[in-house]
Amino acid sequence: MSDLIAQLTQRLGTHRVLTAREDILPYGFDGTATLKQLPACVAFPRDAADVSFALKLAGVSATPVVTRGSGTGLSGGSVPLAGSLVLCLVQMNRILEVDTANLTLRAEAGVITQKIYEAADAAGLFYPPDPGSMKISTIGGNVAENSGGLRGLKYGVTRDYVMGLEVVLADGSICWLGSKCVKDVAGYNLRDLFIGSEGTLGVVTQVLLKLLPRPAARQTLLAAFPSMEAAAETVSAIIAARIIPCTLEFIDQTTLRCVEDFAKVGLPRDAAAILLIETDGHPAAVADEAAQTESLCHHHGATSVRRAANATEATQLATARRSAFSALARLRPTTILEDVTVPRSELAGMIRAIGLIAQKHALTIATFGHFGDGNLHPTILTDERDHAEMHRVELAVAEIIAATLERGGTITGEHGVGLAKKPFLRAQLGDASFELLRLVKRALDPDGRLNPGKIFD
Ligand code: LAC
Ligand code: ZN
Repeated sequence: MSDLIAQLTQRLGTHRVLTAREDILPYGFDGTATLKQLPACVAFPRDAADVSFALKLAGVSATPVVTRGSGTGLSGGSVPLAGSLVLCLVQMNRILEVDTANLTLRAEAGVITQKIYEAADAAGLFYPPDPGSMKISTIGGNVAENSGGLRGLKYGVTRDYVMGLEVVLADGSICWLGSKCVKDVAGYNLRDLFIGSEGTLGVVTQVLLKLLPRPAARQTLLAAFPSMEAAAETVSAIIAARIIPCTLEFIDQTTLRCVEDFAKVGLPRDAAAILLIETDGHPAAVADEAAQTESLCHHHGATSVRRAANATEATQLATARRSAFSALARLRPTTILEDVTVPRSELAGMIRAIGLIAQKHALTIATFGHFGDGNLHPTILTDERDHAEMHRVELAVAEIIAATLERGGTITGEHGVGLAKKPFLRAQLGDASFELLRLVKRALDPDGRLNPGKIFD
């Protein structure tokens, strides 16, 4: 290890290799509660060649390597192992090309997601994936966890916008997977294998992204409901009316009061639930969809429907929703956020199940999330120092997961498996699929050096 540190320092300079305890503390955790671990060393590569150099050195000294960006992940995917080498890619932060002829953008892995959105927007184009943490998260981290966001319903998740990847493999070799071709079926689709692989198969150093024309118009609605059921029924009615808004978000009362205290945008504090709905596209279609959506909300018992008067107000409302996790985190010392997703027909039943589980274990569970996608974030507000309560939290999490799987759902819709969901993966996949994942891991990382212990043991 000391040889590895010396060689890295010689190549990168002392300011790009941290080993002092107080320097590496901030790299010991991500956004996931209760998980932290100190690495031995944090290095900041400048390009794929630096990453390759580091992986070759790690091979010689059999050092585990954990790659990370800003550390906003919510499943512990980038929490380091004790004694590991952390490769922090935040200094690889250049947007290399916006190709307006092919509608693509090529960037280094450490570029902040918001910057990708802004670079596309400046060219009249649109990068849709918008994870809650997009002002801080890196595009490489988004690819590693296959992050979703508020526009998932209409536009899908990060995977749907990745056309190509530069990846450094465990042995240090550098490869390109994918191309600018809209159609490309040459060989196995290895690019997709790396998306969502949480740094366990290779290190993503560059991404080639697909962009869309920027939608000409958008309209944002905020509807307040007297019950969760009424909100859930409205969502089903909107989808049944063949309207696919880009955003169809749900916030329960606990979450909405926290968000209002935090963001102060005039949310109706007395509502049992609110829906944040955004439609986008051709102006005439947007006007029509917004009108239909508004009347469906009223028809299903909405007590008020507010239309954002302009883009600034729309952005304010979306930003308030994006702050849900941080706002809730102020209530109690420990915030345990789940990411379960069910087929949309199961949403109302799932919401009821979460309510019953909270009651049974005497816990505060606030729920918000991407209702239109069936992706819920039941968030347990607790205190890790209270061992009795933490035991009840564990039971509640296991019951939420069981209720999800019973309904044909998944343990994670957008945050990844990491460490937090690892105990439940086999139950979801079944033995044969689970072993297939392990087979892939063994083929690409035979010595088990890349982010070991994540996704599975
Ligand atoms: C969100 C993150 C927590 O939806 O996924 O805000
Ligand atoms: Zn989310």
